[in-house]
Amino acid sequence: MNAIEALTQRVSVAQLTGPEPTAEQQRLMLTAALRAPDHAWLRPSRYLTVRGDARETLGRVFLESSDNWQGLAEDKKNKLLNMPMRAPLIIVAVCRITEHQKVPRDEQLLSTGAGVQNILNAAFALGLGAIWRTGDLAVNPKVAEALGLDECEEIVGFIYVGQINSSLKPLPELNIDDFVTDWTAKTS
Ligand SMILES: Cc1cc2nc3c(=O)[nH]c(=O)nc-3n(C[C@H](O)[C@H](O)[C@H](O)COP(=O)(O)O)c2cc1C
Repeated sequence: MNAIEALTQRVSVAQLTGPEPTAEQQRLMLTAALRAPDHAWLRPSRYLTVRGDARETLGRVFLESSDNWQGLAEDKKNKLLNMPMRAPLIIVAVCRITEHQKVPRDEQLLSTGAGVQNILNAAFALGLGAIWRTGDLAVNPKVAEALGLDECEEIVGFIYVGQINSSLKPLPELNIDDFVTDWTAKTS
């Protein structure tokens, strides 16, 4: 698949299965992530890979970080425990926010977001499925602590990656003209 095909045809894939992407595929996705634009070369982004048994540990973290988890119904507990088992590989995208005169916090987060998009596109180009997920757990301080994040670090996404286990959803039919305007300044 060439780059334009991947960029224009990528869809998120929620139904994922093993085997885990190969070491080379993981290296390529993370190399793509590191090519995200980065104002002032702050290098705000870092990535954690969670695979194998570590996913069970992450499920435990998800459960035990949730409010009043001991009182949750069994099905809710199991849902949290099994969340990381939805894919053979989870890449946690982390942004390290630093004070900078010219690069505000939002730009640093956008840079990590661009890194995530590169992972999604690279995964698709490699024939893998991937989906960017966040939710309450991405902003839960206990999850951040368990993952070893510093105070100044934020989770930008949990990227679930694996083999595609369903037919790809159709591309939405979007009309470019609804989103793009050829602007010219009005002259009076
Ligand atoms: C920052 C961000 C967070 C997201 N979080 C979730 C999520 O927690 N759960 C989910 O099902 N989809 C989430 N999505 C949406 C999916 O990643 C995906 O974009 C959506 O299903 C549309 O599919 P598409 O990428 O094929 O257009 C999120 C997207 C973004 C950009």
